[in-house]
Amino acid sequence: MVFAAKHLLGIEPLNKGDILSILDRADHYVTLNRQPNKHGDALAGMTQINMFFENSTRTQASFELAGKRLGADVMNMSMANSSIKKGETLIDTALTINAMQPDLLVVRHPSSGAVNLLAEKVNCAVLNAGDGRHEHPTQALLDALTIRRAKGRLHRLSIAICGDIAHSRVARSNIMLLGKMENRLRLIGPKTLMPSGIADFGVEVFDDMREGLAGVDVVMMLRLQRERMDGGFIPSEREFYHRFGLDLEKLSYAKDDAIVMHPGPMNRGVEIDGTLADDINRSVIQEQVEMGVAVRMAAMDLLVNSARSNPKGVMA
Ligand code: NCD
Repeated sequence: MVFAAKHLLGIEPLNKGDILSILDRADHYVTLNRQPNKHGDALAGMTQINMFFENSTRTQASFELAGKRLGADVMNMSMANSSIKKGETLIDTALTINAMQPDLLVVRHPSSGAVNLLAEKVNCAVLNAGDGRHEHPTQALLDALTIRRAKGRLHRLSIAICGDIAHSRVARSNIMLLGKMENRLRLIGPKTLMPSGIADFGVEVFDDMREGLAGVDVVMMLRLQRERMDGGFIPSEREFYHRFGLDLEKLSYAKDDAIVMHPGPMNRGVEIDGTLADDINRSVIQEQVEMGVAVRMAAMDLLVNSARSNPKGVMA
């Protein structure tokens, strides 16, 4: 299958075929990553620049390893110490970096839409590593791969996404991806953390965990996005945990073989019980991290190789 996009800015422009191409290629990289020699050559000789304007541990490490395993020269720019602090605009930074002839730019930014704007100004492939509350496409893809490998399929599953939906780019990208793949989606959280008009997206909305989790195959927890809240969205963390924190008792309403997910970083005892998060019979949180590297390898491989055969790209 041909992957026609020039950039990976979000799940929104992708179709089922694009999603499956990335996941199939990622399966191949999972196998490679489990071998002692993890070297591929899909990005050999290329330059990948990671620009993270917002904190990150696992996503930045994951993109760095992914690029290195495929043979790219990977540079991590510490944007906290960058010329942005001296007043340079995002566009000027982009033009400067562009002049250094990178092949791939990986960008995280606190403002929704900033990565799309930057992609318009540069010649190389741009991957969105999370922009504000907008999109986080590689997270949704790694979640999809984790689900497909655990459940044997990625369609007609009943999937609950729980917690701070309103501020979450992870939720937004997942709702789009899992919806495109024809799953049944349930969003569970306090009304204050539910985006208005969300029911129009073909999802069911609940503010009671036990009701919402009844019979689901997958339970996806989210972190409370404190940094994106500008007021009192929850009474207290204790109260939030009591009503919406995932523990064994609430999980017992889901299917017996339901899997538990969290994109990390997680707040134990706020969104999820720590023992449950570590229970390898229920939680696939570590698999999500492993799938992340493979999905990023697949996405970067497909982008640069399709960019060479299709320089304009059709789905930016
Ligand atoms: C997520 C993010 O940054 O959006 N984390 C991640 O990429 N692993 C989720 C979060 O920060 O809550």
